[in-house]
Amino acid sequence: MSEEHCNHLPGESCDHDHGVSLVPPPLSLYVHLPWCVRKCPYCDFNSHQGKGELPFEAYIDALVRDLDQDLPLVWGRVVNSVFFGGGTPSLFPPEAIDRFLQAASARLRFAPNLEVTLETNPGTAEHGRFDRYRAAGVNRISFGIQTFNDAALQRLGRIHDSGEAERAVKLAQDAGYDNFNIDLMYALPEQTLAQAEHDLERAFALQPTHLSHYQLTLEPNTVFFARPPQGIPDDDAAWDMQEHCQRLLAEAGYAQYEVSAYARPGRQSQHNLNYWRFGDYLGIGAGAHGKISSGAGQNVLRRWKHKHPQTFMDTAGTAASLGGDEVIDAGRLPFEYMLNLLRLHEGFSLRDFESRTGLERARIAAPVQLAVERGWLTVDGDRVQPTELGRRFTNDVVELFL
Ligand SMILES: C[S@@+](CC[C@H](N)C(=O)[O-])C[C@H]1O[C@@H](n2cnc3c(N)ncnc32)[C@H](O)[C@@H]1O
Ligand code: SF4
Repeated sequence: MSEEHCNHLPGESCDHDHGVSLVPPPLSLYVHLPWCVRKCPYCDFNSHQGKGELPFEAYIDALVRDLDQDLPLVWGRVVNSVFFGGGTPSLFPPEAIDRFLQAASARLRFAPNLEVTLETNPGTAEHGRFDRYRAAGVNRISFGIQTFNDAALQRLGRIHDSGEAERAVKLAQDAGYDNFNIDLMYALPEQTLAQAEHDLERAFALQPTHLSHYQLTLEPNTVFFARPPQGIPDDDAAWDMQEHCQRLLAEAGYAQYEVSAYARPGRQSQHNLNYWRFGDYLGIGAGAHGKISSGAGQNVLRRWKHKHPQTFMDTAGTAASLGGDEVIDAGRLPFEYMLNLLRLHEGFSLRDFESRTGLERARIAAPVQLAVERGWLTVDGDRVQPTELGRRFTNDVVELFL
């Protein structure tokens, strides 16, 4: 019995045997490149200020050893996307990215329409570099621009001004990149609603296919957390900015599909969508996290690597490179699933819940029902979606599944 033809609510009795699919979820590859020119005071990513000549070649060798060690987890499976994240991946010369991609394609089965994204700090963009990234196989660029206000860029400790950010995007466009993302942050120190609006207008003028619009958060273990800058907008002001910007983004043709992600039709980040849909991913490089399921998702393994670049390079390819691992027990799987899926406007299908967790839909019938009664979720046949209210209170909704 196919699910499309069986419209009972989750947990309602049903005579049909839906079974639980044994097909493993789609697979992605995340590659962490950990160095930056300078550490930004708000950033808690695993990024390290590079000193002197960076060991690009040795790091690529370590990445390949790391990949070799993880390969048995994914034998024979197709990889749909590769994401070079950081840190500042654009510090790596195109030849190094090329060498890694060649080594990876010799070891993994790449999908014909593979999405390959490289994160770029506009302060590291040079003429000619994008052509060579493109020749290496990178077909999507993500620019960390943050804001087009030069005074604000300085306060954020950025290494570029707004003119350099625009020039970097144009260099990439000249090299043939039409699929690119711009990262912006809002609720910046002393930022007004008009300034947040102006940032979007400058971004729209560059015609990105994707925009990530993040609220600045004060993360523990950052300079901003220890010494918060003056004039951070309060929660109400930040909420007004978000609502206003959401409207502008929609009017400009960018549909919101996740808490902070907006895209032109068909241009969602395939890599991030796979995370949020509870797909599988290998995590290669210093501090990278991976998630791999086996069987019908009954066994979901998380594994991560040592965070420090030098320790990672010294140990890559051996058990000593593992920072740790854990198998998510079945009791926690619904919570972990919802933590990702309820970020997405599309929500999830009960069939996918079953195939990605290996659990029957009856396991979540009670919390789904409760969330529907509270106006947080809707159920339409097989599809469960967060309402606008549910999206505002994602943490409360997800907690129902603990
Ligand atoms: C790894 S960085 C992107 C590439 C590159 N490192 C750069 O900064 O240009 C990922 C993005 O996360 C966002 N981000 C980092 N720290 C943040 C914070 N504390 N609050 C909100 N967004 C943050 C920024 O927009 C940043 O561009
Ligand atoms: S450049 Fe990006 S990764 Fe590096 S410190 Fe700044 S925000 Fe973090």
